[in-house]
Amino acid sequence: MSDPDDSSSGDRLKEGERLQKVLARCGFGSRRVCEDLIEDERVRVNGHIAILGARVDTAADVVTVDGTEIGISPDFVYYLLNKPAGVVTTATDTHDRPTVLQLVPTEPRVHPVGRLDMDTEGLLLLTNDGSLTHRITHPSFGVEKEYLAQVSGTPGRGAIRRLRDGVELDDGITAPARVASPSPGLLRLVIHEGRNRQVRRMCDAVGHPVQRLVRTRIASLSDSTLAPGKWRELTTAEVRQLERDVGSGSPRA
Ligand code: URA
Repeated sequence: MSDPDDSSSGDRLKEGERLQKVLARCGFGSRRVCEDLIEDERVRVNGHIAILGARVDTAADVVTVDGTEIGISPDFVYYLLNKPAGVVTTATDTHDRPTVLQLVPTEPRVHPVGRLDMDTEGLLLLTNDGSLTHRITHPSFGVEKEYLAQVSGTPGRGAIRRLRDGVELDDGITAPARVASPSPGLLRLVIHEGRNRQVRRMCDAVGHPVQRLVRTRIASLSDSTLAPGKWRELTTAEVRQLERDVGSGSPRA
């Protein structure tokens, strides 16, 4: 609900941003024009006609103008890239190797959210939203990442159990992981740490070195139709869902 005085709307909305300010930021005109839009009952929050002065949480509330959902923020862009092997996840490379930034638009400037090794393929998010980047990459938020690893040999039950329970690496034991083997020599691993070369080192540690590694999911975000080297913008619904996946700012206890 959009009424700030409506106690059923809870404290969350009281901490939100004034609706007319959000609309102005999203390009609907001056603050005065946006106030008129609200007074003309053309704006809804979560399906309810909005009133002037209402506060909204742009990560959680659905705001529409004339029935069309407004964007998250005109200042932020979110690209999902299917990174091919042989491309580095740094802004520039001293060895002149191709970088992920060369595969997405140069303006506005974005940064990769976390990193994939040069030889790792799959989903990589790039954005200029520093807050979301922090929450996805900081280990305390425990965001899930899923990988498909083609490994040498056929890991047996013992190896899979070790991967699930935690394996000893030189920077400490890994947290419990979800691990399945959909076919011989193939592992699906879901981890939520994000240490350097973690999946490769885990598989090395149980005697089944990785031959090919593909990231297939970041939190709720997946896309099996995106071709290697291609990118697309996240939909508003995907950004909202990601915001829900990672929470609004406090690390997990
Ligand atoms: N684990 C790895 O070993 N490499 C990656 O690129 C990502 C996770």
